Amino acid sequence: MSISLAAFNTFALQQNCTSLVEVTSKAELIDICNKLYKQQLPMLVLGGGSNLVFTEDYDGTVVKVSTKGIQFTADDDYQYITIQAGENWHNLVESCLQKQIDGLENMALIPGTVGAAPIQNIGAYGVEFNRFCYEIEFLQLDTGHLVRFNNQQCDFGYRESIFKKQLNNLAVITEVTLKLAKHWVPVIDYGPLQHFDPSTVTAKQIFDCVCHIRQSKLPDPKVLGNVGSFFKNPLVSTKAYNELKLCFTDLVAYQQVDGQYKLAAGWLIDYVGLKGVNIGDAAVHQDQALVLVNLGHATGKQVCQLAKYVIQMVFDKFAVTLQPEPRIMGSVGEIEIK
Ligand code: EPU
Repeated sequence: MSISLAAFNTFALQQNCTSLVEVTSKAELIDICNKLYKQQLPMLVLGGGSNLVFTEDYDGTVVKVSTKGIQFTADDDYQYITIQAGENWHNLVESCLQKQIDGLENMALIPGTVGAAPIQNIGAYGVEFNRFCYEIEFLQLDTGHLVRFNNQQCDFGYRESIFKKQLNNLAVITEVTLKLAKHWVPVIDYGPLQHFDPSTVTAKQIFDCVCHIRQSKLPDPKVLGNVGSFFKNPLVSTKAYNELKLCFTDLVAYQQVDGQYKLAAGWLIDYVGLKGVNIGDAAVHQDQALVLVNLGHATGKQVCQLAKYVIQMVFDKFAVTLQPEPRIMGSVGEIEIK
């Protein structure tokens, strides 16, 4: 049997998988994943498919997580929200705002599901998922047990977590609990939000502004296939940053608390003149160089060839190596770009 994955990945890549199971309850999710793991059969647990590049047909079972449910509880100071993995992230952000639970507004319109959010510690406009993460419940495949990790145990970093490192391919996230302070503090230090007055701004205003910026800067995957940022913004030492800044005075970079600098990869790619460059139907987006797009019939292999070209060009100019942000999938699992 062969099932098209085109509707299950936001890049709209035309690859197939051997079988696809959609699960709507946690018990079903646990059951199917345990069975596949025990039989040593390739499985791919899929949320929104917004961070995947299929380079070949997937020779295994795709488990599409569509579990639903959001529960709200509170104590004197905090709201606690427990969300099933298959809930859509943006719907969650909206549901919270409707209930006057503020905090998630900077992360409006990030594509994907709640269960996928911790894996790469999603973030935008000055706020990352780990700011509000209280607990993650996951199925640990090698033991078959449900486990709960607190924030610290998840070892979050910039687009990183334990689920991409030690627990890569070993954890199926089933449920996420967020903890949001009732006393809301707006985060408006990111460039386009700086015009707000912190004493009067509302979460809804930030939400509307973020939606507006994202819609104007990032291509809509329903119109033009893409996975958001294709590369992480690279971190470099102060020394490396100072050297680069001497040669490239317009370089865009953000100093981190540990003294390192995060370079704007979009700026680096733009500087070497790659906007609009294509290999087949895989192209660097015309307006936002950090995003690769599918102009129609791109293959995952073309996307990877293009990514390699971008990495090489940026390296030749700046001696900085870009790392892809999405997971690149081969026929039985994740692969390196090659
Ligand atoms: N820039 C250019 N040319 C470009 C693109 C960007 O010069 O073609 C410059 C911009 O002018 C700006 C700087 O690069 O000065 C940074 O651009 P922007 O503020 O648009 O953000 P980004 O670094 O490109 C990151 C995240 C996005 C997130 C935004 C807003 C990563 C890899 N990407 O993008 O996340 O929405 O900041 O916080 O960290 C995603 O992860 O998929 C994603 C979209």
